[in-house]
Amino acid sequence: MNTISYHHESVSEHEMLERSVAFYQQMSKRRSIRAFSDRPVPREVIEKIIETAGTSPSGAHKQPWTFCAVQEPALKTQIRIKAEEEEYKSYHGRMSEEWLNDLKPIGTDWKKPFLEIASWLIVIFKKPYDIDNSGTKQQNYYVNESVGIAVGMLITAIHQAGLVTLTHTPSPMNFLAELLKRPENERAFLLLPVGYPADQVEVPDLKRKTLEEISKFY
Ligand SMILES: Cc1cc2nc3c(=O)[nH]c(=O)nc-3n(C[C@H](O)[C@H](O)[C@H](O)COP(=O)(O)O)c2cc1C
Repeated sequence: MNTISYHHESVSEHEMLERSVAFYQQMSKRRSIRAFSDRPVPREVIEKIIETAGTSPSGAHKQPWTFCAVQEPALKTQIRIKAEEEEYKSYHGRMSEEWLNDLKPIGTDWKKPFLEIASWLIVIFKKPYDIDNSGTKQQNYYVNESVGIAVGMLITAIHQAGLVTLTHTPSPMNFLAELLKRPENERAFLLLPVGYPADQVEVPDLKRKTLEEISKFY
């Protein structure tokens, strides 16, 4: 094992509290946005956001992810067409009554115009295994956990940059690997439109669980 020294930035307890309050306040303003503006976002911003997600921890440091950033209009149109095909089938038979009822307060349906309008689409792929130079499969570990954490960091970075996103799961998502010509060891995990919100956008009036509801201290 090769080691290097770790630089720990020491902060006082007072500053620690201030920082955690400020960060909570900033993050509590994050909302999933479903109506986007077509205002362009510079590629450099998207690159930094993806690099931030790439700082995520991962099982055995396998970094089992690929982030595909799509700006090309023709490709976004193809993604929208395929996603809406799948979503139409989901909303008309594949989803249970219970699921459809749970979605009512959120107001979603099979139409996904934001897939063409948002400046960027980031499609996240997970890699259950890698393929080394000799063509041999190399196992990855805790792939869902690792990629889930990385996407959490991606969403945080998007919000922190002053942009908005939606965690989108057109289901099934196999068409994304086909359209983006991904290798056979990559599986689509999530699809995030990224950009600016549409003017005067509204969001569902949802309540978040309180600290007491989501935590137990021992
Ligand atoms: C794994 C996951 C999948 C989701 N899939 C969709 C989706 O396909 N379409 C959609 O409109 N919202 C989707 N959402 C967004 C949720 O509806 C949203 O996060 C939730 O209603 C809370 O709202 P907020 O993000 O504004 O706090 C998904 C969220 C998660 C975490």
